[in-house]
Amino acid sequence: MYYPDELVEEIRTRNDIVDVVGQYVRLTKRGSTYFGLCPFHNEKTASFSVVPAKQMYYCFGCHAGGNVITFLMEYEGDTFPEALKTLADRAGIALPQREATEQEKQEADLRSRLLEINKEAGRYFYYQMRGDREQKAYRYLTERGLSDETIRRFGLGFSNPYENDLYQYLKKKGYKDEVLKETGLVKIEERGCYDKFWNRVMFPIMDVNSRIIGFGGRVLGKGEPKYLNSPETKVFDKGRNLYGLHIARSSREPYILICEGYMDTISLHQAGFTNAAACLGTAMTQGQANLLKRYTSQIILTYDSDAAGIKAALRAIPILKEAGMTVKVLNLQPFKDPDEFIKNRGAKAFRQRIEEAAGSFLFEIAQVYAQYDMKDPESKTSFHRAVAKRLCGFGSELERSNYLEAVCEQYRIPLQSMQKMVLEEARRTGLAGGETQVRAKSREKKKEREDGIHTSQKLLLTWLIEAPHLYHKIAGLLGPEDFTEDLYRRAAGMVWEQLRTGMVNPAGIVNHFINDAEEYKEVAALFNTRLRGGMTKAEQEKAFTETVLRVKQNSLQEASRHAADAASLQEVIKQQASLRNLHISFD
Ligand code: UTP
Ligand code: MN
Repeated sequence: MYYPDELVEEIRTRNDIVDVVGQYVRLTKRGSTYFGLCPFHNEKTASFSVVPAKQMYYCFGCHAGGNVITFLMEYEGDTFPEALKTLADRAGIALPQREATEQEKQEADLRSRLLEINKEAGRYFYYQMRGDREQKAYRYLTERGLSDETIRRFGLGFSNPYENDLYQYLKKKGYKDEVLKETGLVKIEERGCYDKFWNRVMFPIMDVNSRIIGFGGRVLGKGEPKYLNSPETKVFDKGRNLYGLHIARSSREPYILICEGYMDTISLHQAGFTNAAACLGTAMTQGQANLLKRYTSQIILTYDSDAAGIKAALRAIPILKEAGMTVKVLNLQPFKDPDEFIKNRGAKAFRQRIEEAAGSFLFEIAQVYAQYDMKDPESKTSFHRAVAKRLCGFGSELERSNYLEAVCEQYRIPLQSMQKMVLEEARRTGLAGGETQVRAKSREKKKEREDGIHTSQKLLLTWLIEAPHLYHKIAGLLGPEDFTEDLYRRAAGMVWEQLRTGMVNPAGIVNHFINDAEEYKEVAALFNTRLRGGMTKAEQEKAFTETVLRVKQNSLQEASRHAADAASLQEVIKQQASLRNLHISFD
């Protein structure tokens, strides 16, 4: 980064977080905290909090969090320098001129330069489309029914039919071949340099923070390949992004629609379904499912209605469920994809189909059904057995019996016979099932234990930040080294330093993690754990003492496990003994 820490901190402190966030989110004050609907995920009740005393925001639903700078980065999709510039302007602070020197350009890390170039290229494609005398791409898109507003919202553009126009343009902007070849936008060979995309309609692909990470390019009309996509780069991981999710994530619907294509996503958005996103021409991955889980707990698949689409849906269902979401499948018949459906039947009919969407289980059963011949008794029995087998997969008995009833009704299977068959199947496979259950339980236990320790560590940091005078009570007792996660330890080190000098400022700590969204979010969570309210002083003392003890004991346990010799083990045991009668009083 080019800016001195002191400058960043001055800009941050001169922009009150309540004022800035208040420009985007309607906030209501409750006690010393403001609450509003989270702008980063779908919700109907306010779990997004802004705490003036900490100068931080935190969402108890999706765990978005940070300070005023990260808020702008996330909300506006700004890079760090862009967010800083906005805030500096807002506070009337002059930033040092930052037309980066050659040297600085070299030093800036590759990722942010790739993002910068992508943004530049996106702009370039957009203006190529506007400037094209024949209006080829623009006409193509409008003929497919897209409005100017939609074209602008998705930043669609045109790569002209010349060999290396974009390359020349980026060179003039001062970018070197070594960097350009990392973008996937150009091919640099001995014989010459070529643009990867030419004579195509361009679809910029954005990450959830609205930064362009790659492109898809479609031929105008017929031709092969129909779509050409950026290769994976340092900033483009196809398995961890979805097209359109930067908008879909903050729609107000409680579910997200997943479709197959760029045009499907765009059509859906234009028809008012701004909660649609698409996998990037690949099968649904676990990474994508985990990403989706941050914003919603329900997915409606609107894949193409052909065999490939059905197959893709069947593969996506277990992955989405594994990530903890419920899944429904929408029927597009007799149309091929959402784009066609909307064009022919309109938004209202599509909404009707959303309401009729089948739960994933019944969808799976329907696919199984299609494989059997119900006129043949043997085949029919096999179908029933396949159903029974699948019903065994439900962990909860109530869920199983609900689905059993639904299936039996839909396929006219006698209820009691199916119940019997399910029992048979369960007995037949019971042993194997039992074993995996035991293993799953012990994995769960371990995870619970770890979660418990992490919660105690978070609780302690939040508590100290909210009641800094308690620092003197524990200063000799435990320190940052007692935090087991690397990130926690680094954050705790900074908290301790602030507590020691009496200047508690958690939002300032966030600055140090600003380059990594996963990290600053986690830090925000460390400082915003919910403390139980309404406790008496004695109860508070007890809870605080227990929290301190849990953190310290866990750290001592780790130490004893790694003790190199008898002497250090002795020391650990001595410390463990000294904790026995610990009681921290607040007086
Ligand atoms: P489709 O072939 O279903 O295209 O591919 P589509 O979405 O209906 O596109 P239009 O309406 O003809 O313009 C679905 C998705 O698969 C990926 C793209 O992401 C596309 O949106 N795909 C398809 C490719 O990456 N390359 C291809 O050659 C074709
Ligand atoms: Mn299509």
